[in-house]
Amino acid sequence: MTTTDRDPDRVLIFDTTLRDGEQSPGCSMTPEEKLRVARALAELGVDVIEAGFPAASRGDWESVNAIAREVHGPIICGLARCNADDIQKAWTAVKDAARPRIHVFLATSAIHREHKLNMAKDEIIRVAVEGVRLARSLCEDIEFSPEDASRTELDFLTEVVQAVVDAGATTINVPDTVGYTTPQEFHETFSHLKRHVRGADRITFSVHCHDDLGMAVANSLSAVQAGARQVECTINGIGERAGNCSLEEVVMAIHTRQQVFGVRTGVHSQKLYPTCRLVSSITGMPIPRNKAVIGENAFAHESGIHQHGMLKHASTYEIMRPKDVGLSRTNLVLGKHSGRHAFRERVRDLGFELDDAELNKVFERFKALADRKKELFDGDIEALVLKLDTESGGPWFLDSLYTESQSGTDASARVQLHHADGRQVERTASGDGPVDAALKAIEEATDTQVTLRKFEVRSVSSGEDAQGEALVTVEHNGRTHRGSSVTTNIVESGVRAFLEVVNRIELGRQGGRAQLARTDVREAQEAV
Ligand code: KIV
Ligand code: ZN
Repeated sequence: MTTTDRDPDRVLIFDTTLRDGEQSPGCSMTPEEKLRVARALAELGVDVIEAGFPAASRGDWESVNAIAREVHGPIICGLARCNADDIQKAWTAVKDAARPRIHVFLATSAIHREHKLNMAKDEIIRVAVEGVRLARSLCEDIEFSPEDASRTELDFLTEVVQAVVDAGATTINVPDTVGYTTPQEFHETFSHLKRHVRGADRITFSVHCHDDLGMAVANSLSAVQAGARQVECTINGIGERAGNCSLEEVVMAIHTRQQVFGVRTGVHSQKLYPTCRLVSSITGMPIPRNKAVIGENAFAHESGIHQHGMLKHASTYEIMRPKDVGLSRTNLVLGKHSGRHAFRERVRDLGFELDDAELNKVFERFKALADRKKELFDGDIEALVLKLDTESGGPWFLDSLYTESQSGTDASARVQLHHADGRQVERTASGDGPVDAALKAIEEATDTQVTLRKFEVRSVSSGEDAQGEALVTVEHNGRTHRGSSVTTNIVESGVRAFLEVVNRIELGRQGGRAQLARTDVREAQEAV
């Protein structure tokens, strides 16, 4: 799509959670999880999903291809370095999408030219043009990114952009790869490119910012004010180092300050919170309490003066309504006598779209939980929905768990597991607390040795019988794996989360759901 055949006030939202976001340490996702996130992004109303970097590994290619075939609505984009093999792989991965895009990148700054690529300026232009020509011979929709654009000499940047536009690029993305620029500086960069590139009115300018100095959202908005009509961003701002421009923040800034920016996005803002929670639950990256727009405290008013103002009129201290970002939290409590209808309504109010089969599955779990827990709050229901596709998928299943602990002595744990192939195993172990003992017993029972990197527990709702969510991060053969689980017993949550990790490792060994290690992607990118 070019700027001439679309509304000039419409800013395209290009989501790169599954590519730049997934690249951040500890954020890798399984193919199933990527598909689930891609579906949620389509529901959210993003315009472009950058589904991955197909040349990075067979697993990444397959994920991008699955998204291209199964996720409808947005443009599906695959990243490629400027070489024939990457471009071919990106094309074969995305070509089944109704609207495919190839995103080609090549670094242009002096630092990258000298220290990473060892290429002269004319060579950069030649390779960029060849890459874009090849990509354009395969696909109509081509995005080009001069990596580290913000540290590239402006004249040379303009020259590169002109050359790739002439070669057929339809979107020019200007990345602030290392989060170095400032709002005013980036405004000048975009204004310069728009003024000096011939044919600038026929292409879309895009902005891609990293948050190293905490200015990714401000820099992106400044580029929009200078004429950028695509913003590249990630859910919860996840991404390399300090992260990328946060989708929910940039979208809500554009929505809330319409008069300042004078542009619109196609994002259904009421779906922001559920999408952010989904990504947080899958990646195991908790949303900070004070996170703008979707943090737990974003709409909480503690001081008496503020509370007084809020009681008089919400606009005294709130510039957005919680429901505008999908936070329709209430004190409405459901319990074991609540019917399917009330449950369905609550799930819908929380921003989740479930089909009948999914609703039945969650409703069954809701009933089982309601037998153990008197009152169920929004956080409980959210946790049930978010764990819909995960947990207890095997091959190992927990049959029983017994732990004993007393202060001053080692704890002990006995676990009984069964495997999908029919094996039944029981192991007892002792450790420093019941969780440590149970994890050791599982390691022995499943013959899986890992290094525990992180073990976190948080409450998902209120009350003494609140459910505890455990997040477990381990390292196994140089790869990071995560698991999570929510139950009313935090020891059991920890054990189930750990078993999820063990299952992922075993499935990876079998090659069923091999998880792409981030090191693969980094090595591939560094080999440019
Ligand atoms: O930050 C960056 O430069 C990138 C490019 C590949 C667009 O992610
Ligand atoms: Zn990036």
